Amino acid sequence: MRAVAIAIASTLLCAGPATTQGATTATTAASSTSWRSIPTLPSDVNKGRKLLANLEDPNAKDAQRLCPGYTAINIRNCPGGLSARLVLSGANCNVYGTDIDQLDLRVLFGPESRLNVRILPAEIPEEQESWYDTNEDYLTRTVKGVHFNPTNSHFGFQLNSSPFEFSVVRKSTGDILFSTKGNKLVFENQFLEFRTELPEKYNLYGLGEVMHSIRLGNNYNRTLYATDVNDPLDENLYGSHPFYYEHRYATLEDGSKKGYAHGVYLRNLHGQDILLREKSLTWRTIGGMVDLTFYSGPTPTDVIADHVKAVGLPAMQQYWTLGFHQCRWGYYNVSDLEGVVETYRDFNIPLETIWSDIDYMDQYRDWTNDPVTYSLNAFSAFLDKIHENGQHFVPIFDAGIYIPNPNNASDAYSYYDAGIAADAYLKNPNGSLYIGAVWPGFTVFPDWSAPGTQDWWTDSFQKWHKEVEYDGIWLDMNEVSSFCVGSCGSKNITQNPVHPPFSLPGEPGNLILDYPEGFNNTNATEATSATAAIEARNSANAAKAAAVGPMSMAMPFVSQVTPGVDIRAINYPPYVINHVQNGHDLAVHAASPNATHSDGSLEYDMHNLWGHLETKATYKSLLKVFRGKRPFIISRSTAPGTGAWAGHWGGDNASKWFYMALSIPQALSFSMFGIPMFGVDTCGFNGNTDMELCARWMQLSAFFPFYRNHNVLSAIPQEAYRWAAVADASRTAMAIRYMLLPYIYTLFHHAHTAGATVMRALSWEFPDDESLVEIDRQFMLGPAIMVAPVLDQSANYTNATFPGGENEKWYDWYTHEARNGSEGKLVDLKAPLGHIPVFIRGGNVLALQHPAYTTAESRKNPWDVLVALDSEGDASGDLYLDDGESLVQEKTAFITLEATNSLLNISRKGQLTSTEALSSVTILGVSKKPNQIRFGKAKLDNWSWRESSQVLKVRGLEGVTKGGVWSKEWELSW
Ligand SMILES: *[C@@H]1O[C@H](CO)[C@@H](O)[C@H](O)[C@H]1NC(C)=O
Ligand SMILES: *[C@@H]1O[C@H](CO)[C@@H](O)[C@H](O)[C@H]1NC(C)=O
Ligand SMILES: *[C@@H]1O[C@H](CO)[C@@H](O)[C@H](O)[C@H]1NC(C)=O
Repeated sequence: MRAVAIAIASTLLCAGPATTQGATTATTAASSTSWRSIPTLPSDVNKGRKLLANLEDPNAKDAQRLCPGYTAINIRNCPGGLSARLVLSGANCNVYGTDIDQLDLRVLFGPESRLNVRILPAEIPEEQESWYDTNEDYLTRTVKGVHFNPTNSHFGFQLNSSPFEFSVVRKSTGDILFSTKGNKLVFENQFLEFRTELPEKYNLYGLGEVMHSIRLGNNYNRTLYATDVNDPLDENLYGSHPFYYEHRYATLEDGSKKGYAHGVYLRNLHGQDILLREKSLTWRTIGGMVDLTFYSGPTPTDVIADHVKAVGLPAMQQYWTLGFHQCRWGYYNVSDLEGVVETYRDFNIPLETIWSDIDYMDQYRDWTNDPVTYSLNAFSAFLDKIHENGQHFVPIFDAGIYIPNPNNASDAYSYYDAGIAADAYLKNPNGSLYIGAVWPGFTVFPDWSAPGTQDWWTDSFQKWHKEVEYDGIWLDMNEVSSFCVGSCGSKNITQNPVHPPFSLPGEPGNLILDYPEGFNNTNATEATSATAAIEARNSANAAKAAAVGPMSMAMPFVSQVTPGVDIRAINYPPYVINHVQNGHDLAVHAASPNATHSDGSLEYDMHNLWGHLETKATYKSLLKVFRGKRPFIISRSTAPGTGAWAGHWGGDNASKWFYMALSIPQALSFSMFGIPMFGVDTCGFNGNTDMELCARWMQLSAFFPFYRNHNVLSAIPQEAYRWAAVADASRTAMAIRYMLLPYIYTLFHHAHTAGATVMRALSWEFPDDESLVEIDRQFMLGPAIMVAPVLDQSANYTNATFPGGENEKWYDWYTHEARNGSEGKLVDLKAPLGHIPVFIRGGNVLALQHPAYTTAESRKNPWDVLVALDSEGDASGDLYLDDGESLVQEKTAFITLEATNSLLNISRKGQLTSTEALSSVTILGVSKKPNQIRFGKAKLDNWSWRESSQVLKVRGLEGVTKGGVWSKEWELSW
């Protein structure tokens, strides 16, 4: 029976709609849009200049060789630290800017675990402040106040005055953590360089945003410059997080290992290159100051918590945001959305939130809806219906604001006018509007430093919410992206609206033909025709390129600017960072560095903060829209502290197995950066997915904090119901996720209050185990759950390490079978399609709630308690409860669950009560048959114990927990 049902379903869903709908989609994309009738931007508007990145240039000037370095004078101890004056030790070298002759060194001991080292020009004219320092309102400082006694610090600071060098030492071990010894400080108005020695084979993590395995390795170049790009490996992406931690392992006298981690954060968000070499790390920025914070750990968990507290604790999410989200570019009208929501229901696959990409907008303008395909009547009726069903809607929101055509009265756009009235937009240096181009055509961009911007922004979101009742906002394109170089619209807005200078997915020349790696192994016929089509496209594109002629050669950049401390080359700084965009030009695909803010600061200095500040402004707006509910925001561009307002998704990945694998280290790095609400485009964004990849990915992402399936325009559909096997796999994994929601929510509470992580690397939970330094194909969700997914095509098993020795216990989620730690060895695990290996670490107690279709329904369901005893017979866990949505809670409850000596004890704090009862308690690792089971004093009969599995199961607890299992304290003994 079952086999037949699956066969029918897959013909219906896979072969049928998948291909035909894919084809219809492509035609609709080309015909339904108004792009055809409007002018297209010339294709060279985004070309920029072709520069040679300094990293690529074998003849680049070596600042270490050419520059004189500094000498420290007037060294003084002062309250909480020390200060000194640094003077240039020789003639100016002016390698990539103009040397600053006199610098101030300020060393500030924070709380025990933090040390802040700042080096900045001794004198900074007021109008140059933003060149060197970032406003505290934009980027918080890590050490505040100056009265901490250095003798209590975990750190020692060593200074050599001539030449000026410094080292940071861990007092308890004498270990040198950071040392500029033997290397010069280079401090110019457009270039900073300093270098620290590192131990051989160092283990270094962080420095994002990047697609890379978790450990960065010792021959690696990192560039940070926020950019709109399709997730290329090892290149700069959407966000900038100049933070790393290093993990060292000491051998103790008894031969065992002890891990020590420390963190380093550079509070400088200028464009930068970081060079990791065999025994050193070199930091180069194109501006700003040295503002380093060291965190002493000693575990990675301590380092991360300290950093996250310093930059801003992550936002507490609403409970519903942890449900499953479906999105795609190419839901053409309200009925498409309706169809998806209904079909999820028909297939009984939980859907919490439906998302809209740019399809819903009126000509891609913010705060609007397409009057035909997303008419307000149909749209509101749809939103009312899903809201009644406890479901939600989140639309995309773009950063560029359309500038209406002044020659066309019917092109009026009141939100733009209101922004003009508020004087809320970026300017050119001459004071005129900076006009770039994004989806709607020529656009302007909000200026977050302008005094009127916030109110205009808030008014706009409030007004729009009266029309389209969204439940959260998805901020896209906020690097900030622009499809042309410079203020390309300044003289051309009478052409508006204009089509972007490239074809959309599905348009001729840009058909979506890619499939996952190995697609030919499982779908030979389709793969053959796709390969033929790709070859045809490639040769057509090659012919086109040949007709245009070769690109000019990249040349080393020679600055035309006469040196002088007060003069900078803004659009083409003398040091060319290894920026991923065409020609490394900073103005390609972004608002140019010379775009100017109302406070006089330039994008040159503020670029990496644009998305961060937009997120902050949007958070403030949504607080007003939703009156006291926690705003739900997912932002593409992020910076240190963005987590306080928003989550992040992994950007425009592709439907490839390697992108699924890299989603794990990407998520772990956002745990480090204090943005725990993270997930990627499940089943892949660019390209077509296939059944197997989508089935595996839907299961993997079910254990990520943010769980969303998203797809590009004109690719084959990839909702979880499109293939029977994907539907089955999704239901299985979602049932586990929804049981774990109270646990995940509690993890968020700890993240929000104490900087704890939600998704975790194994090496964070087992910081003394050196065998885990590179493990990023498996991960932990909080302290209790370990996930070991299949990440390879056609594999029906995976292998995994089980940290800990023979005293560690790991229980299989499904069978409850126990196994011990594998002592660094990989163990084979069976994992046929539809099965994701999940384990519970012994020593944890989980409060689980029965899953339902929506999170609102599951919150009303009965509970189970799962006790996974460690080898001593102990376990503990906790549970945070609140109303699931309010920023300020009237009542909360915090439950502690503790098992020891055959007794489970539940204690509680807080005023909140709830009515759901307890259904069962399952205890794993009970080696002897109990004589009797008691709930408090009452003896229970409904229980069973199996010798083979050592599992004790107590059922039928609804009666004794009537009135709410968490509303009172109780005990269960066995
Ligand atoms: C990093 O940059 C150096 C030049 O400084 C280059 O030789 C090397 O190949 C680059 N490394 C990688 C992994 O790209
Ligand atoms: C602006 O208009 C001029 C004149 O029509 C044209 O040559 C130029 O390509 C246009 N620039 C853009 C960015 O559309
Ligand atoms: C599929 O393609 C890969 C890579 O090109 C090749 O190694 C493999 O042999 C192909 N499989 C089949 C069944 O043709």
